[in-house]
Amino acid sequence: MRLSLRFIIPLTLALAAIAYAVVPLVDGLTLRWFARDIDMRSNLVANVVHDSIQESLASGSKTRTLRVFDKIIEDERLYALGFCSASGGPPIATKTFPAEIGCADLGVFADPSKKVLQSDKGPLHVAVVGIDADGSRLGDLVLVHDMSFVQRRSEETKRYVFLFFIGLGAVVSLITVVIAQLSWRGWMEGVRALMRGEGLLRPAGTAPPATLPELRPIASDLRALIRDMESEYRARDESQVTWSPEALRTILRDDLRGEDILVVSNREPYIHARRGDRIEVSRPASGLVTALEPVMRACSGAWIAHGSGTADRDVVDANDHVMVPPGKPSYTLRRVWLTDEEEAGYYYGFSNEGLWPLCHIAHVRPTFRTADWKQYNEANRKFAIAVAQEAKTADPIVLVQDYHFALLPRMIREKLPDATIITFWHIPWPNPEAFAICPWREELLNGLLGSSILGFHTRFHCNNFLDTVDRTLEARVDRETFEVTYGGKPTAVKRYPISIEWPPADTLTGKPVAECRADVRRRNGLPPDHFVGIGVDRLDYTKGIIERFLAIERLFDLEPRWIGRFSFIQIAAPSRSKIEEYQEFETRVRALADRINGRFAGGSAPPILLKVEHHEPPEVYEHYRAADVCCVTSLHDGMNLVAKEFLASRDDERGVLILSRFTGASRELPEALIVNPYDIDQCAAALHLALTMPEAEQRDRMRIMRGLISEFNVYRWAGRMLLDAAGMRKRGKLREPAH
Ligand code: F6P
Repeated sequence: MRLSLRFIIPLTLALAAIAYAVVPLVDGLTLRWFARDIDMRSNLVANVVHDSIQESLASGSKTRTLRVFDKIIEDERLYALGFCSASGGPPIATKTFPAEIGCADLGVFADPSKKVLQSDKGPLHVAVVGIDADGSRLGDLVLVHDMSFVQRRSEETKRYVFLFFIGLGAVVSLITVVIAQLSWRGWMEGVRALMRGEGLLRPAGTAPPATLPELRPIASDLRALIRDMESEYRARDESQVTWSPEALRTILRDDLRGEDILVVSNREPYIHARRGDRIEVSRPASGLVTALEPVMRACSGAWIAHGSGTADRDVVDANDHVMVPPGKPSYTLRRVWLTDEEEAGYYYGFSNEGLWPLCHIAHVRPTFRTADWKQYNEANRKFAIAVAQEAKTADPIVLVQDYHFALLPRMIREKLPDATIITFWHIPWPNPEAFAICPWREELLNGLLGSSILGFHTRFHCNNFLDTVDRTLEARVDRETFEVTYGGKPTAVKRYPISIEWPPADTLTGKPVAECRADVRRRNGLPPDHFVGIGVDRLDYTKGIIERFLAIERLFDLEPRWIGRFSFIQIAAPSRSKIEEYQEFETRVRALADRINGRFAGGSAPPILLKVEHHEPPEVYEHYRAADVCCVTSLHDGMNLVAKEFLASRDDERGVLILSRFTGASRELPEALIVNPYDIDQCAAALHLALTMPEAEQRDRMRIMRGLISEFNVYRWAGRMLLDAAGMRKRGKLREPAH
């Protein structure tokens, strides 16, 4: 509309100006034409009345002549008539004869341009015609015509010409604006279609054109330009931002209109459990919770999770809400209740006996049962209902977490078609052959492709996912843009390496390193100068705990000087203990620790201190800060945040990290001692190297790795996803049909 006005107003003004210039020209022209006509008429009148005037003059009676004259001027146009005798003297003239006309000056009226006389009666036309008798000149007959009718007509003409130009202007403007609007819309639709990768707009129901018309040559350039601008914008934004809770809040406020976010995960961030007659709150051992909890504290909103604690129901309100963190509430925890049957099928069965071993190459055979699959569907549906209940708008931002919810994105999309759904897969994604053994592979992929964005830790996992989709579904996989289009809807597949809170909370690093070292050694009956290694894991077969213990045994075999001088504290949080595989694994781990401790019992301290129990984060950090070396030897791991936590805990820049090359973290932290956990000799050598590493080298390595985490902290991880979501929502608006 504004565009149209901007066009119409100047055009109308221009045409009005033209009208003003043209009207006087038309005016002059019509005046000249009328003067010529009246001239001719005067001659005609003179010819007609010649004889009667001649006779009256010949009679010598002035009265008779005047009577003739009065008779003649009854004609409405002829205003006055006079006769100037050739012998001179005053004219014989009607009463109306203008005084300005003198018989001596009649020669003036021979000039056509001087024939119109402006008098107080209006314009008068003066024509002079000679009256002869018998070949001699009697005098001149002066015919004066009233030209006011010409003026009237001229006024009318002016009005019509002016109105004509105004009308013309309006019509031209209208036509131009309509054409411009149509072609602008068409062009914009073309551009939108190009951005969707569909080519140009075409009439509904017709096949896409084989060759695209006028926009085709610029299609790829346009897409490349938009991609460049986006990545430049993001890179600039990312590098300029100091990634903190405040930075996240700014993104939510400025880029996402202050939207609340909804997080969905199986594991809840706070578990309420009954201990006798008291209710205790604890934080579960979960990388996912470690990463997302600070993000939620920064963003508020609601976190929807399975209420699994024995006292969880006792602390929620009527909507199953409880504000957390306890003592400093900043977001809502919405608990979803699962029956024992649902938990057994969805969590223990399909998620952890099926998908977990399927995605981790840890040589444990996945088990898929139809009954588990049904419960997995049911549980996902329950969470979809909870998301719809918690959504405050029709287009919320929902962060779906992990392999427990592969079906959830599609279910949310069905309930909230305009939601921005960011799904993050915290564990590895296997290659297509490995994934193909899942009987419900198509359903899982279809579910995940309900997401707007699907995130993995590494580029390798993104590639595996694209390969899997390519092999399994009739979908368009764009390897240049990392986008999958399925059922006409795109899903961006992106790499977001997860991280931890930085700087770490004072409650975690407040206790001085020297005190941590002394207290941990004392509590474990170790001498003050004893070398200590630390491992912090859930008791899970993917974590490489068996291989780690074997490496310690090998170290003692190869370098006996460490016997009695080095002990390894393994914190092993009990996990999924209802699953037989996990029970057997715990048995194997305990047996191995006992065997190794038995072998090297001669020393003053046992080689392995195995602590199969839950530790709260401050205790875990105390151990990190007390250790000389930290071992992260997963057989396969999405990221592994223990590695990053250990580095964050060491503000003294001491300690060595041994890191499995099969973790996502090893891609970001090459300054760690990178090992193949299956190569026991190599791991033993790495332990020896770590225990003998000069302090300066420890510091140099630590500085680089801590620098990286400080820059790429969890706020940046979440911020990048939210910025991408914001960009997507803006592009979505652009793609909407113009109104
Ligand atoms: O990070 C992977 C992950 O499976 C999370 O999804 C989960 O919260 C965590 O490890 C611990 O597992 P669980 O929730 O089964 O105890």
